[in-house]
Amino acid sequence: MAALLEVEHINAGYGFLQVLWDVSLKVEEGEFVCLLGANGAGKTTTLRTIAGFLKPTAGDIRFEGKSIAKTPAYQISQMGISFVSESLNLFTNMSVRENLLLGAYRVLDKKKQLEALDFVFSLFPRLKERERQLAGTMSGGERKMLAIARGMMSMPKLLLVDEPSLGLAPQVVVAVFEALQTLRKEGVTILLVEQNVPSTLRITDRGYVMEYGKIVLEGPSKELMNNEHVRVAYMGI
Ligand SMILES: Nc1ncnc2c1ncn2[C@@H]1O[C@H](COP(=O)(O)OP(=O)(O)OP(=O)(O)O)[C@@H](O)[C@H]1O
Ligand SMILES: [Mg+2]
Repeated sequence: MAALLEVEHINAGYGFLQVLWDVSLKVEEGEFVCLLGANGAGKTTTLRTIAGFLKPTAGDIRFEGKSIAKTPAYQISQMGISFVSESLNLFTNMSVRENLLLGAYRVLDKKKQLEALDFVFSLFPRLKERERQLAGTMSGGERKMLAIARGMMSMPKLLLVDEPSLGLAPQVVVAVFEALQTLRKEGVTILLVEQNVPSTLRITDRGYVMEYGKIVLEGPSKELMNNEHVRVAYMGI
């Protein structure tokens, strides 16, 4: 059986700047996988390429067995891949509810949108309480939740999440990681990019480590946690 997502030997970059070099990774259905690496390693570029905003110059990306390497981003999102970017892209002058509905409008019909709204409100009761509040007046942590919840509104088969803990206070980070674990328990397949290495390895099944645009290590999260290189380079141990 093919994995849900298969990235095979891709190169990608920006114009003449090649960032990704022969990157391969896969995510099985129901798996919670992380992609770790330092600033500038190419993690966001990897997610953008999977989501279709950048096109690989070599290699292939398959989703449910079909190549999506040349598929436009809007079609990839309709196929069931949702990308929660680190810049969040919320509409600050719109309410929480409106932002959530925008996460689904191109993918689901009206009735399904309202079902999705009920679903994310059940996962994130705090957003339900603040449904009428303007997104721009939410706290940093609440905005991350909102962005993740909006990513879930299209009921994706695969959720790509880019550095949700970035810029958050430690106790808020805990809440965001709990939200991801909740999604995972709901059976959502997640590929998570993070720099908060210990917390990430604690909650994920498997991981990849990227350095200078290449995958240099991969394995079960438990093994990565005990890996000498990971401990020295990413956990300061
Ligand atoms: N739009 C762009 N145009 C040109 N170069 C870019 C662009 N976006 C990223 N890069 C370059 O590509 C490389 C990888 O960037 P990327 O954003 O993928 O790293 P990252 O691993 O996500 O880092 P961080 O942890 O800081 O978010 C960097 O050298 C960056 O400067
Ligand atoms: Mg990044």
